[in-house]
Amino acid sequence: MKSHLLAATAALSLALAGPALAQSPIVIKFSHVVAPDTPKGKGSEKFKELAEKYTNGKVKVEVYHNSSLYKDKEELEALQLGAVQMLAPSNSKFGPIGVKEFEVFDLPLILSNKQELRRVTDGPLGKRLLKLLEPKGMVGLAYWDNGFKLMSANKPLRNPEDFKGLKMRIQSSKVLELQMRSLGVIPQVMAFSEVYQALQTGVVDGQENTPSNMYTQKMHEVQKYTTLSNHGYIGYVVVVNKKFWDGLPADVRPQLEKAMAEATIYSNDISEKENAEALDEMKKSGKTELITLTPAQKDAWKTALTPVYKDAEGRVGKALLDEFEKAKGTATN
Ligand code: LMR
Repeated sequence: MKSHLLAATAALSLALAGPALAQSPIVIKFSHVVAPDTPKGKGSEKFKELAEKYTNGKVKVEVYHNSSLYKDKEELEALQLGAVQMLAPSNSKFGPIGVKEFEVFDLPLILSNKQELRRVTDGPLGKRLLKLLEPKGMVGLAYWDNGFKLMSANKPLRNPEDFKGLKMRIQSSKVLELQMRSLGVIPQVMAFSEVYQALQTGVVDGQENTPSNMYTQKMHEVQKYTTLSNHGYIGYVVVVNKKFWDGLPADVRPQLEKAMAEATIYSNDISEKENAEALDEMKKSGKTELITLTPAQKDAWKTALTPVYKDAEGRVGKALLDEFEKAKGTATN
């Protein structure tokens, strides 16, 4: 959407925000960039179902999948302006609005499993990170999982040297940029909705993403090789416009909190299965060759990616890195 149109829509929504809250039903526009058949797509539909049920129809949730309303950067602006009420951007996408701390989740190989992740997101650090969003006009309601990433290109990516000189799409995260540069890649920030076409036309040579995102966008059909690297993680923060949230009637917000808590459990429970099934479909399609790394190749990736930690200190801060490392190894609840 063009920016003047965005501004006009936002002005209109702001003007309508007061009466809309007082009227019934209260409408929550939930915009996101992935397909319905993904952990986030299904989580957003579950939230809709539960929110409408628990509020007895006082709230209506409109889910807009696949960037049908806004693309990555625009959706965050739209949320801040009040043109939409709810989003679930990946951790990697908060840098452009001035919250770079979530990029700590982008560090390669920082999480070995979901247990470590849960200890971070469910503990004091996870809560503290969510608080950073409030001065930006949004409230962080929950962490939703996608999963671990694969690397793909039209050439096999087995050793760090294989990446040299490739142009690869990344999300808008400086830590991901550092990761790619450490492999000799020329990173290109690009909206998720543009990736398939960019791969198809050769604007970029490759990309990194989870199986569910690759499969539902058909990226595997335009990438000859996919490496099962699990080198990084993609997850989301569900955010809501703060003014809207704070202005909800007292009998409505607790019901929405309950719906969100249950939708979070649901979405996080299905994420692993959704990704495993997508990977299976990619394999069955025969369109991309899946590459398993040998232990020696994994070691070589680790060696190549380790310097990113030092480089990232300047972006997310050494204190946060240390806190993250400590939190992931310590049971907090
Ligand atoms: C991406 O841009 O690759 C992902 O963040 C998309 C998403 O929302 O999972």
